[in-house]
Parts: sequence; C-alpha cells; structure tokens
Amino acid sequence: MEILNTKVAIIGSGPAGLLLGQLLYKAGIEHILIEQRSAEYVSARIRAGILEQVSVDLLKQAGVDQHLNEFGLPHHGIEILSNGEKHRIDLSALTYGKQVTVYGQTELTKDLMHARNEAKLTSFYEANDVKIHEFYNEPYVTFYKNGIEYRVNCDFIAGCDGYHGVCRATVPQDKIKTFEKVYPFGWLGVLADVPPVSDELIYVRSERGFALCSMRSSKRSRYYLQVPLTDKVDEWSDERFWDELKNRLDSESQKNLITGPSIEKSIAPLRSFVTEPMRFGNLFLAGDAAHIVPPTGAKGLNLAASDIAYLSSALIEYYLNSSKQGLDEYSEKCLKRVWKAERFSWWMTHLLHHFETESDFDIKIKQAELDYILESEAGKKTLAENYVGLPYELKRLEKIKNISC
Ligand code: APR
Ligand code: PHB
Repeated sequence: MEILNTKVAIIGSGPAGLLLGQLLYKAGIEHILIEQRSAEYVSARIRAGILEQVSVDLLKQAGVDQHLNEFGLPHHGIEILSNGEKHRIDLSALTYGKQVTVYGQTELTKDLMHARNEAKLTSFYEANDVKIHEFYNEPYVTFYKNGIEYRVNCDFIAGCDGYHGVCRATVPQDKIKTFEKVYPFGWLGVLADVPPVSDELIYVRSERGFALCSMRSSKRSRYYLQVPLTDKVDEWSDERFWDELKNRLDSESQKNLITGPSIEKSIAPLRSFVTEPMRFGNLFLAGDAAHIVPPTGAKGLNLAASDIAYLSSALIEYYLNSSKQGLDEYSEKCLKRVWKAERFSWWMTHLLHHFETESDFDIKIKQAELDYILESEAGKKTLAENYVGLPYELKRLEKIKNISC
C-alpha cells in the first residue's frame, strides 16, 4: 500500500473539486484530488453554461479567467416567450448593472484542468473503489489505481463527488436529512454548430411544453425541449427535434431559426434535492454532492461555486489564521443560499413547464402569475435579481493574513 499525507483530500474533479483545488493551491495549501473517471471523460462532459458575476469573480481569484474573458459572452437580458409573445427581462437595468456570462461548463472544466496540469498538482484520475474513512476523527481516503492500493491521510475531506458520489452515501443515516422533489419530465438537449436564433437566451412557455434557446458562442447553439421521462434519445431524430422546437417558438424566432446536424443529444431528468447539514465532522460536502437544482434557473454550477467560495475561505482561514469560525459556519451559510436558489429554480420550473396533472384552473392561475411577473416592474425585478445571483457574504480574503491570491 502507498501512503500519502496531505491537508485536504478532494473527492471529485467536477467544477467544485477543481475550483477548490485551484483556490487552495493559490493559498499554498496542500491537497490531493481523487476522481473515479478518466481526465478525458471529465473534460468532455457537456453541461449548462451560465455564470453569475460572483462565479466569474471567483474564477478570477483562482487565476483561471483568461479564456473566460476572451470567449465568455456577457448577457444583459433574457427573453421569456409566453402566449406567443416575447418579453425582455433587462437584467442589468433591473439589478443596478449586473449581468450573467454565457460560458460552457465544458470549457470551464478544461480551463481548470489545464491550470491544474500547469501547476503540476497531484491528481489521481481513474481511481477505483474510492472510500472515505474516520471523518469524525482522523480522516483518510483509500482507493486503487493501476492495481496499487493507496491511503491518503488528511485533515479534511472535501466531498465534491456529485449526486452519485461516495461521500454523502458514507454519512451515517441518523446524521443526515435529505429533501427531494422529482419532476415528471426531462429536458432533451441538442448542441449544434449553428448560429443562435437570438442574441439572448429565450425561455419558452408554450402549450406544447417548455423550450429553451441557449448558446455557447456566436456559432454554436444549445437548445432544450421538455419531454416525457419515458422518451428515449433515439426516438428524437434531428428533424423531429427541430420541428418540435419550431412549434414551440414565436413566428419571428421560427423564421430566424437555423437548423443543422446535432453534435450532442441527451435527455436529463429534473430534480430538486438538498442535504442537511453539509458538514459531518471533518467531511464537507460541496456542489452536486450536497444539492441538485432543476436547470431552469441555471443555478447548478453557480451554487457549486458559492459553496467553494465558502469552503476555500474557511480552509484558508483555518490554516493561515488558526480560526475554525469559517468551518463551523460553512453548512449554515451555504444552506441559506442553497435554499434560495432551490426556491428560484423550483419556481421557474413550475412557472414555465407543462405538468400533466394540472387542471384547467391550475393552468389559468399559472398563466396569470407569469403575466403578472412579465408586466410588473416588481415582478421583473424579482426574477432578474434571482437570475443574476443573490449576493453572498464572504470575509474579505485580504483580511486573512499571508494570502497570496
Ligand atoms: N470517487 C471519485 N470521484 C467520484 C466518485 C467517487 N466515488 N463519484 C463521483 N465522482 C466524480 C464524478 O465522476 C465527477 O467527475 O465526482 C465528480 C462530480 O462532478 P459534478 O457532477 O460535475 O459535480 P460538481 O463538481 O458539484 O459540479 C456541479 O456540475 O453537475 C453539474 O449541474 C451541475 O452545474 C453543476 C455542477
Ligand atoms: C445552457 O446553456 O445549457 C443553459 C442555459 C440556461 C439554463 C439552463 C441551461 O437555464
């Protein structure tokens, strides 16, 4: 058995784990990253692509914003199409100048992995049978790689291993409470090298179901359709996808829509899920390991980033200032923000999707609620404020002595 010693063992190489690694490295805190999949698999995964300003700021702090600055698309508004009519939500005007940035999570993951390689940080990809131990006392992680058994002794374990990971699953049942809502439909997503139908994202509520027109660049589009969970991807030819998307759009968008062969097509189920608490002794859960949101509010990646903002600053405070305050407050602070984003994502999903079980009355009430939101300054402001991201308070890192980032 190979024995390694480090301060923080990070499980999972998604955006949460990679970002935490980069921030710890910048602060001079030793860590080891352990991921069950191959680096190629991780860097090719296609996910959502909207960054709140606070996430962009964090990437800047981590020193991985070069590509983001070059290729990220600042967006100052979104469109909501309801009853065949488009309504613009002027995000910047409604939130004192805030914006979001369109930048694919795939690109972000690649940037973070590149920075990790450049800094020659210790990572184990294709780690088998990853297990976490003794996290209420002196934690360690075990796994196999190329037939060799490893043991990593550490002060803390960061469980950044996503919804299906091992960290949350290892917590004793009597120490954890989970809250869950599963939606009775999925999103069929298509990526295609065609110019986007519009300069801004269009969220569509139609009688045929929800649709979303998004993008990755001026040449690459990302579109989604609400579909029954029983649908299979191979039942959706490109032609059927484009026809259905057109059917859910307004006449102007129908005219502007440019179609082409899909380069990726998949169906994702929608789920709301929260774990309480997010800390178990010396184990800290972050990102999808602790909570899932339906993608309608574009909050998944941003919540992972805000957890990491809290966790990295708590660990830095612990190692550089010998203070446990940030670690002790971690769970409570994260969950406060998590539940607000859960509420917003649930609300957007509820408002814009068609539910089979809705009565005619439910449909009318929902339409009235959406009309109110779109016609009222207060309504639009509520939507915009949540969409660009609610603020979170962090101890200014400069106050933590010796910090190099
Ligand atoms: N051991 C090691 N690694 C594991 C294990 C395990 N037992 N189980 C899962 N992993 C890895 C996965 O292979 C994945 O690479 O943990 C990583 C988790 O990454 P993500 O699922 O991307 O989760 P997170 O980093 O929290 O990112 C949140 O990504 O999933 C999207 O919608 C989500 O946008 C949000 C963001
Ligand atoms: C995406 O571009 O993939 C995307 C954008 C906004 C969302 C969800 C997904 O709300």
